[in-house]
Amino acid sequence: MTIQNNLSSRAAENLAGSNVMLEGVIKANANKFDFNENRDGIINLGVAENQLMTAELREIFSKVDTADTKLFGYGESPSGSRLLRSHFANNIFNRYFKPYESVLGEQMVLTAGCSATVDNFTFCVCDPGDGILITTPFYGGFNTDIMAKSKARVIEVHLDGVSPFGLEQIQLMQDAVDNARSEGTRVRAFVLSNPHNPLGRMFAREVIIAFLRFASKNQIHILFDEIYALSVFDYALTGLAKEEQPDSNPFISVLSIPNIEQYCEKELVHVAYGMSKDFCLNGFRCGVLLSPWNTELLDAMRSIAVFTWMSSTTEAMLTKLLSDPIVIEDFTKTNQARLAESYTYTVKTLRDHEIPFKPAQGGHFIWIDLRKFIPSHLISSAQAGERSAEHLVWRAMLKEGVYVNLGEAFSERLVGFFRLSFSVPVPMLELGLKRMITACQRASLSDAEA
Ligand SMILES: Cc1ncc(COP(=O)(O)O)c(C=O)c1O
Repeated sequence: MTIQNNLSSRAAENLAGSNVMLEGVIKANANKFDFNENRDGIINLGVAENQLMTAELREIFSKVDTADTKLFGYGESPSGSRLLRSHFANNIFNRYFKPYESVLGEQMVLTAGCSATVDNFTFCVCDPGDGILITTPFYGGFNTDIMAKSKARVIEVHLDGVSPFGLEQIQLMQDAVDNARSEGTRVRAFVLSNPHNPLGRMFAREVIIAFLRFASKNQIHILFDEIYALSVFDYALTGLAKEEQPDSNPFISVLSIPNIEQYCEKELVHVAYGMSKDFCLNGFRCGVLLSPWNTELLDAMRSIAVFTWMSSTTEAMLTKLLSDPIVIEDFTKTNQARLAESYTYTVKTLRDHEIPFKPAQGGHFIWIDLRKFIPSHLISSAQAGERSAEHLVWRAMLKEGVYVNLGEAFSERLVGFFRLSFSVPVPMLELGLKRMITACQRASLSDAEA
């Protein structure tokens, strides 16, 4: 390219950094595994995509006329039709999130995916250079959502051994805000996912309340990404020992906290949701920003909704799915039972190979510790935080035909942790785990190649 200043500086900035998560996804998607058609392909245990409910979804959607000519035109509104928003309110939030005050369709803006929700939210609350606080490890997509378009900054809070589920972290979060402010950064929000991605656990009520108080004290927005709310399984279904249960916090939505204004100005509290996870519809692209108490933010979100307008076909299909509470209840129960089954299989396999992991109970994934496979010649550099060991194990996995997401993509400082998505049918999971373990064993013996 010979043209000077071909791109805006903000677009050029996006091209400057590397995005490991995206690199892996592109590799895995270019050569997808299929039992019948591509056994040499890559089994995807890296992306949080739930493949456990495809038959049920096929059945539900077979009843939608996707060639209905009404769907060829624009939908009712860029921020979602009234009917679909009311289904979200009545059949999802009011039914499963136990809100202290009932939720209404008019309190939400729909977008083309939860990534777009977080992007649009950031655009509406941050100017370029403003900061959004997140504790590590965190879902790596937040980096893109927050930085790529709005040019806000992610302020990573490294907990370094302090539990992300306890109260002790609040001081570290406060230190991060104080530091950022002393350097002249305007801190605008705290974002977290509950259930936690990548750790697959839920926050206790007292911690949610502490987060609310923290937001209020610092006068920043607080966005609870609750996209895995219905992907929490009953631990009893796993048949695993009770002592191995993470800590049995059920999912508690921030919406369910009574009289939230005791802890935080209500206008600062928001929830993100979407259809990619609990309804296994990553490809549909539907996200929700629910902001029950901040009409100004909703108006701002509506002012840019035209760029993230869901397709009419998606809207029609989702309207069908979410119209029927009984279908949703059956779907959710079956999904949770299958997640429990895949989780159990994963845990048993990890244990057979003495691979440490963090027990989980929500989401599609488990956080695993593959440090024992780091080849000896890389151990000291890995301990010093240099990531080539993690990359080596990761590339060995891709070569063996399995994609697992590396800790770096979640801003984990310790080298050698991975997030493994188990939400695929057990036969595929079995082969994927086998490939992963073979690759790890090979990588660990790779000293000779050094
Ligand atoms: C916590 C969290 N939020 C948002 C998203 C993005 O979801 P969507 O596919 O709706 O953009 C993901 C996807 O992995 C996620 O894990």
